[in-house]
Amino acid sequence: MFSKQTYVNRRKQLMKDVSKGLVLIVGNSDVSFNYQANQYTFRQDSTFRYFFGYDIQGLVGVVDIESGEEYLFGEEVDIDDIIWTGPIPSIGERAKEIGISKTGTIKDLRKLIDSAVFTGRRVHYVPPYRAENVDFIADLLHIKPEYIQAYVSTELIAACVKQRSIKSEEEIEEIEDAISTAYNMHTTMMRMASKEGTYEYTIAGTMEGLALCGGGPVSFPIILTTHGEILHGHDHSLQIKKGRMIVSDAGSENKMGYCSDITRSVPVGGKFNQRQKDIYNAVLSAQLLVPSLVKPNVKYSEVHLAAVERLGSALKELGLMKGNIKDAVKEGAMGMFMPHGLGHMMGLDVHDMENYGENYVGYDKKNIRSNQFGLASLRLGRELHEGFVLTNEPGCYFVPALIDMWKAEGKCKDFINYDEVEKYKDFGGIRIEDDLLVTKTGCRTLGKPIPKTIEEVENAMAK
Ligand code: GLY
Ligand code: MN
Ligand code: MN
Repeated sequence: MFSKQTYVNRRKQLMKDVSKGLVLIVGNSDVSFNYQANQYTFRQDSTFRYFFGYDIQGLVGVVDIESGEEYLFGEEVDIDDIIWTGPIPSIGERAKEIGISKTGTIKDLRKLIDSAVFTGRRVHYVPPYRAENVDFIADLLHIKPEYIQAYVSTELIAACVKQRSIKSEEEIEEIEDAISTAYNMHTTMMRMASKEGTYEYTIAGTMEGLALCGGGPVSFPIILTTHGEILHGHDHSLQIKKGRMIVSDAGSENKMGYCSDITRSVPVGGKFNQRQKDIYNAVLSAQLLVPSLVKPNVKYSEVHLAAVERLGSALKELGLMKGNIKDAVKEGAMGMFMPHGLGHMMGLDVHDMENYGENYVGYDKKNIRSNQFGLASLRLGRELHEGFVLTNEPGCYFVPALIDMWKAEGKCKDFINYDEVEKYKDFGGIRIEDDLLVTKTGCRTLGKPIPKTIEEVENAMAK
């Protein structure tokens, strides 16, 4: 955990940013996967962890905005728990560690919430994403579970987004720690991918093990596939074959729960062929453009558009696109090659704070999300500020079904050279992803550099 003061300060700021009422922050509980005692690896709720620190199941935090009182609720353990899980500090001891003096059981929490509800006070909560917590909050507030989303507090969401978007120095250190694990994961993947015939799951499994060796789980299920055109390719059943690119999109959470999110794309066997070099360098040129544009007050939607324009220009040189590329971008033609956004916020969640609702995090009143195919998938479009951590992840994909559909519709036919694109239907895809910190004057790519140029990747694969 960070020092007590970190959590005290975060809650103090929360009290300034929410006008009145009670703030209810429900931590996660253990979830069973096939019988009660056999549980999924515990994952704490990030909002709870941010304000109350503990990576422990069954806790609830409350902040009373008017009185300034702060509470930690949970059940005390009994001798049975101690026998099976070892000595456990009391709720009172835990509360003290994070600067809280008031504690109680879940029954006490019910009484506190009841008195607030029956005296008409607002109880703020952020959107729960687990059925258990939907039911728990509904029960506490005496409302039907189906109304839980309707009563979510946008004021609390705004307060959390405001604070969590700006990463402190101690948070940046944790993120860089998670990236150092991702370095091990991806450089190991590169060595393993040099051997044709290896199964994708052997590589993905080794990477997942390395995440665990770094102190935490993966930050999302590993994407490792020789079918990189499948954006979230979680199937790892194939043997890797020369001529295919592997898209490896993976990161870890570190002991403090902070994430990394890195993608590298490498040729099976360790040497790029000419076609792979061409597409790889097209994506790389877009990816390398991004850090030169990222700085405070720039909108990430504009950076996205600049990156896809750069990709489009490179694809024009290869004969895959034609016409005026600025117009092609405006018409949405780049969605064919890059149907996803350039990046998203990252922190305690790999898509940071996405449970609050993507548009509360990545957009605001001045920056409304586009509904154009491709750009609509951009999770972060608003102006950037010092302290933001975000991903830079352009890609280029040849999705046979999408090519067939657009071609049949004649979509963007003035900009897409379908005859050439047809020849790439067996290509797969390429994505390159790093994590950026917005600084006072620009940005910094976080972590130790992971091999990225063709020469660096081929050298890493030859080791
Ligand atoms: N979770 C995949 C990505 O955003 O990179
Ligand atoms: Mn990723
Ligand atoms: Mn990402």
